[in-house]
Amino acid sequence: MYYGYNGGWIELICGSMFSGKTEELIRRLIRAEIAKQKVQVFKPQLDQRYKAGKVSSHRGNHFEATVVESADEIFSLVDPDTNVVGIDEVQFFDWRIAELCESLADSNRRVLLAGLDLDFRGEPFGPMPLLLALAENVTKLQAICMVCGALASRTQRLIDGRPANYDDPVIMVGASEVYEARCRMHHQVPRTEKA
Ligand code: TMP
Ligand code: MG
Repeated sequence: MYYGYNGGWIELICGSMFSGKTEELIRRLIRAEIAKQKVQVFKPQLDQRYKAGKVSSHRGNHFEATVVESADEIFSLVDPDTNVVGIDEVQFFDWRIAELCESLADSNRRVLLAGLDLDFRGEPFGPMPLLLALAENVTKLQAICMVCGALASRTQRLIDGRPANYDDPVIMVGASEVYEARCRMHHQVPRTEKA
């Protein structure tokens, strides 16, 4: 990616749910393998939607991954000769993930991250703002709004078919049974009226 540069860097793929983040991550990981790079991939314990030990896209593509509980665990699992470190669902880690990514990039590794930039409320998700600032390269993907077919930058959470309330918990693992992509105009986050 950087002509004549031999050091490490951080690449971040972000966007709403169903925007193809994991598809893009897997595409880049496969290309790194074709280039004979040693690749290691991690994902947080929290997301148990699909088979453990695999990064999985909504379209059904997979790439082998190690499930970890924390950023520190990744640190202890990266082999000395690994060139590329991939992390999916990076929004679920705490802010120490940024320190880990920095140290991996400082030790000449290509760090490939994928995560949700915004939560269902349309607010920055966990450590994503910090990672967006630190990354050398950012790809922001969009999905298709399920209401109007325009480009979607937001994720709508639906509980029994109704927009989830602003005060609902941020973390709720799920796929199309609870979430759909929406554009800014059709994204709804009702707030409870205070008495
Ligand atoms: P995805 O980006 O690969 O589609 O996965 C996003 C995961 O994050 C999915 O399990 C649902 C979860 N999630 C939350 O926990 N809170 C949220 O506010 C949103 C939008 C998604
Ligand atoms: Mg994904």
